[in-house]
Amino acid sequence: MTEEITLESLAGVGPVTTRKLNDAGIHNIMDLVVRGPVEIAELTSMDIETAGKLVEKAREGLVEGGLIQKDFVSANELYKKRQSIGKITTATEALDTLFAGGVETQALTEVYGEFGCGKTQFCHTMCVQVQKQKQEGGLEGGVLYIDSENTFRPERIVSIAQANGMDPEKVLDNIIVARAYNSSHQILILEEASTLIKEHNIKLVVADSAVGLFRSEYLGRGTLATRQQKLNKFVHLLVRLAETYNVAALATNQVMHSPDQFFGDPTRPVGGNVVAHTSTYRIYFKKSGKKRIARMVDSPHHPEMDVVFALGEAGVIDPEDATTKKKKTTKKSEPKEEVTETPDISAEPIDSEPKEEVTETPDISAEPIDSEPKEEVTETPDISAEPIDSEPKEEVTETPYISAEPIDSEPKEEVTETPDISAEPIDSESTDLK
Ligand SMILES: Nc1ncnc2c1ncn2[C@@H]1O[C@H](COP(=O)(O)OP(=O)(O)OP(=O)(O)O)[C@@H](O)[C@H]1O
Ligand SMILES: [Mg+2]
Repeated sequence: MTEEITLESLAGVGPVTTRKLNDAGIHNIMDLVVRGPVEIAELTSMDIETAGKLVEKAREGLVEGGLIQKDFVSANELYKKRQSIGKITTATEALDTLFAGGVETQALTEVYGEFGCGKTQFCHTMCVQVQKQKQEGGLEGGVLYIDSENTFRPERIVSIAQANGMDPEKVLDNIIVARAYNSSHQILILEEASTLIKEHNIKLVVADSAVGLFRSEYLGRGTLATRQQKLNKFVHLLVRLAETYNVAALATNQVMHSPDQFFGDPTRPVGGNVVAHTSTYRIYFKKSGKKRIARMVDSPHHPEMDVVFALGEAGVIDPEDATTKKKKTTKKSEPKEEVTETPDISAEPIDSEPKEEVTETPDISAEPIDSEPKEEVTETPDISAEPIDSEPKEEVTETPYISAEPIDSEPKEEVTETPDISAEPIDSESTDLK
């Protein structure tokens, strides 16, 4: 395979350059392409033109090996490639509707939202779902779980597997967990993932809290460029793996409050632009009392919509299943759960908050899910506006797994915001998610 084309075999790369490249974490031609000429020139002290030629050669090699797409392909070829896209169903009607069938392979799906909104639960659920038979909505494949903030819990997998009538032992066996200790290690894991993916028939790569380590390691404006560059590399590697090996890549990203922002959604993904522009699908999870709302924020072909789901022993579940055990009568394609949050603009950054809110109003009343008509557009979760380093530097230290149902202890909030006109237009015709 082309990955095995060595750096030395490229014209102009001698042992000294190879060593410099290796020292900088560039081990194969894929790395060369991902880093690009400017960085290569800086690292090796070769001139930018030579570096450009080198990267171009590497790119051609990858194209020849079918590892990346040619510059020009026929629509027919593209169509064929897309036909092999697999979908992993989500175990809920609601999210399946949102995803138009399930989480796709050959794509990066980014789920973002505040703490406790269910990102990790969703990842765990998908770890089980992907292993199901094809006729049951799975891909009969394994999982590579890149655990950056120690959030993987095998016990949750066991519960979810049991809820699905699957053998927990077998399900656990098919999940390879790679604990990432720092951002470089996180990148390294992806760089070395290709063999693993092939050997273990991996169909889902999860990067839970993908941005967390980059955020904590690169603090302050001075390090923004480096952080973006590294994050960029990580995300591109993820996309590349997804496309090359026909696997689904699922990354989560926490959002933060922007106390300085008075309009628009006070939360935005901490990864900032890099992640936003590379993800193929972006889904925003939001707490709404006991329930959760998911919105397809950015997709090349999904309609924008909101759906309501819930969290339970079985992972992500349909809202009816949260209350009554068996009652799947309603279609959740147009849930209109009332969202009543108020962006607490004066609040501290979300990551620094403990799991329990102090100011909450217990959600004792039944939810008025359908009582509210969809409202007019307004908000734009401001994913694009600010540079990411304006975030607070917080640590996430919570352990969301201790109690089974603290969900309803969340505060009900009011919505009052106005559209953030400076943000990207992707959300500009969103409905009632505030
Ligand atoms: N066994 C369970 N049964 C029911 N609900 C559960 C269970 N385990 C966790 N939850 C719910 O999941 C929530 C935590 O969700 P999750 O850990 O996925 O959040 P997150 O979006 O990943 O947050 P963070 O950004 O902090 O990582 C808990 O608050 C609880 O509501
Ligand atoms: Mg989490």
